[in-house]
Amino acid sequence: MRVLITAGPTREPIDPVRYIGNRSSGKMGAALAAAAIAAGHEVTLIVGPVSAAIPTGIRRIDIETAAQMHAAVLREFPEHELLIMAAAVADFRPVRLESRKLSRGQAMSIECEPTEDIVAAAGATKRPDQRIVGFSLEARGDIDRAREKLVRKNLDMVVYNPIETMESQAIEPVLLWRDGRSETPPGQGKGEFAKLLLDRSILLFNRKT
Ligand code: C5P
Repeated sequence: MRVLITAGPTREPIDPVRYIGNRSSGKMGAALAAAAIAAGHEVTLIVGPVSAAIPTGIRRIDIETAAQMHAAVLREFPEHELLIMAAAVADFRPVRLESRKLSRGQAMSIECEPTEDIVAAAGATKRPDQRIVGFSLEARGDIDRAREKLVRKNLDMVVYNPIETMESQAIEPVLLWRDGRSETPPGQGKGEFAKLLLDRSILLFNRKT
């Protein structure tokens, strides 16, 4: 199967040296890519600036901004059956890119606009032979917000992930399906979880959505 995975943060430039970013390490996406390669799939990884080690044997597309990731996902998705959207896309970007480094010493504010919702855009173009898995990073207890995204973004499965585990090695996810079912895998590392998630993603192809 051809599997498209996104990983890591995006960076939204403020001026030539500064950006809005987030703490995503890219480890989850890298672990998913490794699990997919090990299972014999063809993998394309669209990845933001990360320190995590990226497995070899994949097609790697490096991007920096949400707009670049948006363009790359929409270009690549038609050639893949499965999209796993593990990237932590920045939700806001500065309206203006300052051409010169802003100087210090005075109060300033940055006007921002929302970035594209990439996985929702992919969801809107999804064919019957394609499946999409999204992630939902929420405060502990906000699982209903994750469930709502399944429908709104036209996904087939969502991984609810407590914010508190974002930078850690371990993960405490809950898998949510369109038919209302959920699964809480036992506490485990990102590598083990990646294998389980890939397995469940492949099963999505046997069910109607
Ligand atoms: O709405 P929220 O950001 O919580 O949704 C999370 C899911 O949406 C993740 O799969 C994330 O990769 C994706 N996302 C996106 N584009 C954005 C923000 C999030 O594709 N601008």
